[in-house]
Amino acid sequence: MQASKQAGASSGVSVTVGNLKGGTGKSTTSVYLALALAKRGGRVLLVDADDTNATAYSWVEMAGEEWPANIIVQRWPTLHVGRLVSDNKGTFDHVVIDTGRDPAVLRSALHVTDMFLLPMAPTMPEVARLQDTLNAASEVGAIKELDLAILLTKARAGTRSARDVRAHLKDGMELPVLDTEIPLSERYAQSMGSVPPLGFYGSVLSEVIARKEAR
Ligand SMILES: Nc1ncnc2c1ncn2[C@@H]1O[C@H](COP(=O)(O)OP(=O)(O)OP(=O)(O)O)[C@@H](O)[C@H]1O
Ligand SMILES: [Mg+2]
Repeated sequence: MQASKQAGASSGVSVTVGNLKGGTGKSTTSVYLALALAKRGGRVLLVDADDTNATAYSWVEMAGEEWPANIIVQRWPTLHVGRLVSDNKGTFDHVVIDTGRDPAVLRSALHVTDMFLLPMAPTMPEVARLQDTLNAASEVGAIKELDLAILLTKARAGTRSARDVRAHLKDGMELPVLDTEIPLSERYAQSMGSVPPLGFYGSVLSEVIARKEAR
């Protein structure tokens, strides 16, 4: 226990999961990431900061006894989420904040985490909606170092659209995109309220940790 605490002090992961567009896989990503972190040991603070729907919070409630004891969920859908996290993160090794559609809440969360993970489907309509989120984040990025990484979710394996969108984001827009993609699959769509196997989110966490270590 003590060893994991010490490791956490130096290698703790803190991530805001955000995209101002709805339904892009933010809550699913937040919950799986918290589960992946908890599996490696240490205490995880999972914050549900979405003021319109409390998907992450409800997920944990539905899981009940099955839910790992080392992940504590808090529902803080407020502009003060950043301060609440700062005040409480001392007893945790890792922090994951799930956000919703309010840019001010997103900014508040970004102020207190190292990484900004942006889930989106690899489609041109989702690319077209990206700018609002990037604008909101850039206000925080101007003040502090913020490691942005896009996570392609709900990807249809091997399709041209996924490849084209990845190339457009990376080469055209010069945005960082994780190598791991989360496939469009019932296994993720049906997992709400359970403690599912990590699937591709295990690789997402490995990439998140590698990015942190490279900084
Ligand atoms: N990889 C996936 N494959 C298939 N369905 C998925 C996948 N990831 C998420 N979903 C489903 O897509 C829907 C939206 O996912 P989720 O709630 O995680 O997105 P969100 O960005 O948090 O949405 P909101 O903006 O409404 O909070 C859910 O029904 C979820 O089960
Ligand atoms: Mg959500």
